[in-house]
This record gives sequence, structure tokens and C-alpha cells, in this order.
Amino acid sequence: MDTIQIRPIRPADFEEWLRLRLALWPEEPLDAMRAEMSEMLDNPLTPVFVAERGDGKLGGFLEGGTRRYAEGCDTSPVAYVEGWYVDEDLRRQGVGRRLVEAMEAWARAHGYAELASDTWLENEVSQQAHLALGFEECDRIVAYRKVLGKPARPAPLGLSLQELTGRMHAFVRSKGWYEPDSPRPQTPRNLAISLLLETAEALEHFQWSDNPKDRDQLAGELADAALYLLQLASVSGIDLEEAILKKLEMNAHRSWDS
Ligand SMILES: CC(C)(COP(=O)(O)OP(=O)(O)OC[C@H]1O[C@@H](n2cnc3c(N)ncnc32)[C@H](O)[C@@H]1OP(=O)(O)O)[C@@H](O)C(=O)NCCC(=O)NCCS
Repeated sequence: MDTIQIRPIRPADFEEWLRLRLALWPEEPLDAMRAEMSEMLDNPLTPVFVAERGDGKLGGFLEGGTRRYAEGCDTSPVAYVEGWYVDEDLRRQGVGRRLVEAMEAWARAHGYAELASDTWLENEVSQQAHLALGFEECDRIVAYRKVLGKPARPAPLGLSLQELTGRMHAFVRSKGWYEPDSPRPQTPRNLAISLLLETAEALEHFQWSDNPKDRDQLAGELADAALYLLQLASVSGIDLEEAILKKLEMNAHRSWDS
């Protein structure tokens, strides 16, 4: 038991993490699961902690996240336990507790005042474990659904800036462009140049015209510019959401007419 180490996940843990996830959520499609895991690795707001057995194998994990709203919580956003699992042979030895403590420490360090979680009504072990670890039960909800038929168009996913940044990183990594010998070094300077080039390509759509010549193409240019913007902020260590909110706040109190 002393050999069990709790630590943040590393990319090399991927297959073991997948094994544990499949034990917790056996019905999830494998492709979707792999894609979701890749995004999580790149998203600073979805921390994953693992219990390492000492032989490179894992024995448990906790996936954290953040939510704008959680039942019974007084603050927003809150930190959230999205997934929590310990291999059967390691249960009742404090591994689950240590994983939760790691998540609590992450949440405190990132400014969250509450950590929320949920479990199924029939999962009494999980309920007892939550209570034992200091969670208080604050609500019970009944989940409903009504099938609406085939939608006319895909619904917006409502992804956060962090999630979109994670997708951009995953794409760039899949191309090998973060490697030291990359033909496209992803330095802040190169990304700033690319951002400007994509913005200029958007401008081209308005040459000699007040309206874009082709809206779909314009959408593609704007998407390219937005992706470079997210990536540039991220590799420069800038929290873009925080920077935008700060700027909006400053603008609200600024005058342009003097
Ligand atoms: C829930 C789970 C992660 C707990 O992991 P764990 O490593 O066994 O937890 P711990 O050993 O740290 O236990 C912490 C406390 O929870 C309580 N607890 C844990 N398992 C329990 C059980 N089977 N019965 C009663 N209480 C239990 C105990 O109070 C325990 O403290 P104690 O051993 O000092 O009495 C683990 O049981 C699991 O993976 N279950 C299957 C997946 C699951 O249900 N995940 C949660 C989904 S929300």
C-alpha cells in the first residue's frame, strides 16, 4: 500500500487510464472515449489524478472538472468530481480518499470554494465513501428525457475557451508540430505571425465589397484566426478568459469621448 503514489496523470498513462475508465463506464464507445481523454490531457481545467501501483500500472483515477452550476452549491463556478474509480484489489485502503484529497488541493489552489460530486441512487458504496470524505448530501434529483426527433441542425456544444484550446493543442500535437524538430515550430512569435496572416485572409473577403464574398470561407478564416489566438495565449501562459473579462471590466469604466 505504501508503494501507491497519487500524482497528476501523464500522457504515458493513457492505456492504463483507458482500462480503468472502461471498468467504470463499460458502455461508452471506445473512439469517443479516446477522443475525450486526449482533450482532457490538454485542458488545464480537467485535472486527472491517478494512483500508481509502483510497477508503471495504475490502480485508480479521479477526473476533475469545473461546472458553472452544481446542485446545492452556493458559489459559481465550482470544482467537480466527474469520475472516481479504484481497482477492486486496492479498495478500502485509503486510495480513493487520497485521490479526493489531491482534487481538493487542486481546487483550492485554483480558487474554487466548493467541490461538488454526484453518484447514482443505487451506488451505496460511493454514497458512503462521499459522506466519509466530508461531502454532505445536498439534493436528490430525478432525471427525465423526451425524445425530440431529428434536429434540423447540430446544437452548439457550448465549449469553453479552455476546451477549445485543448482541442487545438490535441490537433497540433497529433501532427507532431510540438516536437523539437518540427518544421513548424509553435513559438509565440510564429503563432503571432500566423494569427495576423489568418486575420488578413479574413480581410480579403471584404476587398471591394462591404459584404463577404463567401460566408463559409470567411467562417473558415475566422476559425483559423480564433484557433491561433487561443493557442498563442496558451503557449504564452495567458489565461484568455481572465484577460477578456478584465478588459471588459476596464472598458466598462473607460471613456472614448474626451
Ligand atoms: C468509491 C471508491 C472510489 C472508493 O475508493 P476506496 O479506495 O475504496 O476508498 P477509501 O479506501 O479511501 O475509503 C474512504 C472511506 O469511504 C468509506 N467506504 C469506502 N468503501 C466503502 C464500502 N465498501 N462500504 C462502506 N464504506 C466505504 C469508508 O468510510 C472509507 O474509510 P475507512 O476505510 O477508513 O472506513 C471505490 O469504492 C470504487 O472505485 N467504486 C466503484 C466505482 C464507483 O462507484 N465510483 C464512484 C462513482 S461516483
